[in-house]
Amino acid sequence: MDDSLLRPLPTTGAVTGIVEAMAFFRDPSFAKRRFERLGNVFETSMLGQPMVFIQGSKAITDLLSKPEAIEGWWPESVQQLLGSYSLANRNGEAHKARRRVVAQLFSSSALQRYSPGIINLVEELREELKTSRKPLPLVQKMRRFAFSVIATTVLGLEGDDRDKLFSDFEIWTKALFSIPIALPGSPFAKAFKARTRLLKKLQQVLAKPIKGKGGLDLLAGGLDEVGIPLGDADLGEQLLLLLFAGYETTASALSCLMRELLINPQVEKWLREEIDELRWPPLLEQATNGFDVGNAPRLDAMVNEVMRLTPPVGGFFRRTKKPLEIEGIYVPEGRVVQVALASSNRYGIGDLEIFRPQRHLEDKCSLNLMPFGGGERVCLGKSLAELEIRLMVVGLFRELQLEAIPDQDFNLRQLPSPSPRDGLLVKVKS
Ligand code: HEM
Repeated sequence: MDDSLLRPLPTTGAVTGIVEAMAFFRDPSFAKRRFERLGNVFETSMLGQPMVFIQGSKAITDLLSKPEAIEGWWPESVQQLLGSYSLANRNGEAHKARRRVVAQLFSSSALQRYSPGIINLVEELREELKTSRKPLPLVQKMRRFAFSVIATTVLGLEGDDRDKLFSDFEIWTKALFSIPIALPGSPFAKAFKARTRLLKKLQQVLAKPIKGKGGLDLLAGGLDEVGIPLGDADLGEQLLLLLFAGYETTASALSCLMRELLINPQVEKWLREEIDELRWPPLLEQATNGFDVGNAPRLDAMVNEVMRLTPPVGGFFRRTKKPLEIEGIYVPEGRVVQVALASSNRYGIGDLEIFRPQRHLEDKCSLNLMPFGGGERVCLGKSLAELEIRLMVVGLFRELQLEAIPDQDFNLRQLPSPSPRDGLLVKVKS
């Protein structure tokens, strides 16, 4: 890299980053406005933390194609609440080794094993919607579902164990992107206490003999080969990460997808034409691939469009270990880089502000979406999340016609992940 040919980083000029941080949390167009003014790579400050924002395929490829020059990074609040053993907070060989262990929970045979449990959860919800005499909040139902898939289907927790975990987990998630100062009574202090209880509960569960429920027995075989001993505290933090990474995100994708179907009757009709031809429940041997892109291309396009316009993770981070060139700009060592997915997905020529799933089926579509991140840290639960979403959409819409209760706010709150403000109240069409 010849540094002399590179341009310096454009900057907002922010120093303390207090106003910038406030704007970031309040203004959904925070990054977009600055990209328009400063280009696809710029630097600002967030509460004293210098941060480089990037958007667009070229910039993202420039970053991720140099794994030796970057490492993972999360804001201090996330780092503390996840813990130092967590895969998310590890780098280099320690990250690779833990990733191999945790990945065993998401192999194709593991997904095959989870499918009947997921189908049961979908059918339970369908029955609840069918028999309920009053409107039900779909967002809350999607949250419960996403939580249950991980807690019950993957980790094997049931009944009281699961319910206690759920309430503490809601407290814990609320503070994930907060200011990490544990003043008494602050969301962060409450979250930290919830973390201690959560880990204790997970330890108790791990201490019980594995009864073949969930997927934890899949981990047992792979522990020794990686060479780093996996103690209880370590395993507890990995399981906590799975709840964190897989719950809010999947619930957001499901809620935003349901919202689009409820407010866009044309899109619903278009998707229903395909869903009506699919078999529900799927044969067990087809549960993991029966509704994939080959068999349900419109459903796939629908999921892609939701991930494009309302990505559950609006941005992910890396830190530079060495100086780096991004789109002809010099990014020094030690900089935190945020890949701004939400604005990246709307950046380019055409009707990119509009929800139009059909675009993903057109030959000329050249969008390079990365809702699950990329490179060595790409999401481990991608296939599970996609499976959950596909089974839920087909299972509900194959047999039910839902309608939204009028006069509710369909706008989205943005943090921690997009979700309809009024909870998406629905009833079954009579
Ligand atoms: C629609 C749902 C989901 C979305 C949009 C999503 C997105 C992401 C993103 C953007 C990252 C960061 C990747 C990077 O830094 O390059 C990530 C990491 C991760 N995700 Fe997901 N995720 C989803 C569901 C899940 C599920 C269901 C699980 C597991 C139960 C999961 C487990 C993980 C783990 C363990 C990591 C950390 C990987 C590492 O650091 O090596 N995710 N996810």
